[in-house]
Amino acid sequence: MSIPVLLDCDPGHDDAIALLLALASPEVDLLGVTTTYGNQTLEKTTANALRVLELVGREDVPVAAGAAAPLRRQLVVAAHVHGESGLDGPALPPPRTAPVSDDAVTFLADRIAAARRPVTLVPTGPLTNVARFLRAHGGDGVDRIVLMGGAIAEGNMTPAAEFNIWADPEAAAIVFASGLEIHMLGLDVTHQALLGRAEEERLRQAGRVGCFVADLNVFFTRYHRETYGWDGAPIHDAVALAHAIVPGLVETVHCNVEIERESELCRGRTVVDRWHRTERPANAHVGVALDRERFFGLLIERVGSLG
Ligand code: RIB
Ligand code: CA
Repeated sequence: MSIPVLLDCDPGHDDAIALLLALASPEVDLLGVTTTYGNQTLEKTTANALRVLELVGREDVPVAAGAAAPLRRQLVVAAHVHGESGLDGPALPPPRTAPVSDDAVTFLADRIAAARRPVTLVPTGPLTNVARFLRAHGGDGVDRIVLMGGAIAEGNMTPAAEFNIWADPEAAAIVFASGLEIHMLGLDVTHQALLGRAEEERLRQAGRVGCFVADLNVFFTRYHRETYGWDGAPIHDAVALAHAIVPGLVETVHCNVEIERESELCRGRTVVDRWHRTERPANAHVGVALDRERFFGLLIERVGSLG
C-alpha cells in the first residue's frame, strides 16, 4: 500500500532529483508539493518545481508556494551552489503551469485533513513552512516528518551548521520540539550519496530523464569539486525521500537533537546527543549510515522508469 507524502522543497538540484524519485516510486502517493525559499528565492524554487513536474508530464501534481523568508532571520539563498535559476545546468523551459492559489500552510492543512491515512511530510529545504503549519494546525494527521537537514559532524553553510537548519533555526527548533516522529537525514549520511561519473553514465543509459538528472549533477558537482575536491555531488534530498519509502536503506539512531539559536558562531547547529551523554529525551531518528549501492540502484532504476 502506497504512503501519502507531501514534499516541501526548495528546488534546487537535489530537491528536483528527490521529486523525480517520488514521482517514480509506486510506494509514494504524492499528495502535492509545497515550496520555500532556500536554494533560491521562492519565486524561482516554485517555478523550478513546476518545470520538473512538466518535464515528466505530471502537471496533475499540485504545487503550493510557501515562505519567501525565514521566520525572523534575513533571507539568504544558495545561488553559489545552485546557480541564478536555482536549477542551472540542463536546458529546461520556463513553466507553462502555475501554483495553486492556496499558500503552502493552507495547502498542507487541507491535504492532511483530506488524507485517508496519516501523511509523511518530507521537508528538503528550510523548515519555515512546516513550522508555520505546526504552529497553526498542530500535528494531527502527520505520521512522520522525514527531513533532510542538520549534521552530527561538520556543517556546510558554516563549519557548525547545515544550510536548511542554518537558514531558519527558529523553525527547526519548532519542528524538533513538536513531539512528532522526526527522521533527520543529515550531512553524515547525505555526503555518502555522492553521485559521480559512474552513476552519471548509468543514468544517461537509463533514458531522457536520466540524462536530465546527469546534466543536473554536472552543474551540482562544480561547487563540490571546488569546495571539497569531490568528483561528484551529494544528492542530499533524494536520500531523505528514499529513506521515507525504503526501510533499512539508512541506519538511524534515536537520540536527542537540539538547535543552537543563541550563538552567531554556531547558529543553526544541530546538537546531536549521539551517545546519550545527557538526560535530554530522544526526539529524532538520526541517520548515521547509508547503503550507498542499494540507494543508487533504486534511484537509477526508478529514474529510468520515467522515460
Ligand atoms: O545542505 C543541503 C540542503 O540545503 C539540501 O536540501 C539542498 O537542496 C539545500 O536545500
Ligand atoms: Ca533542498
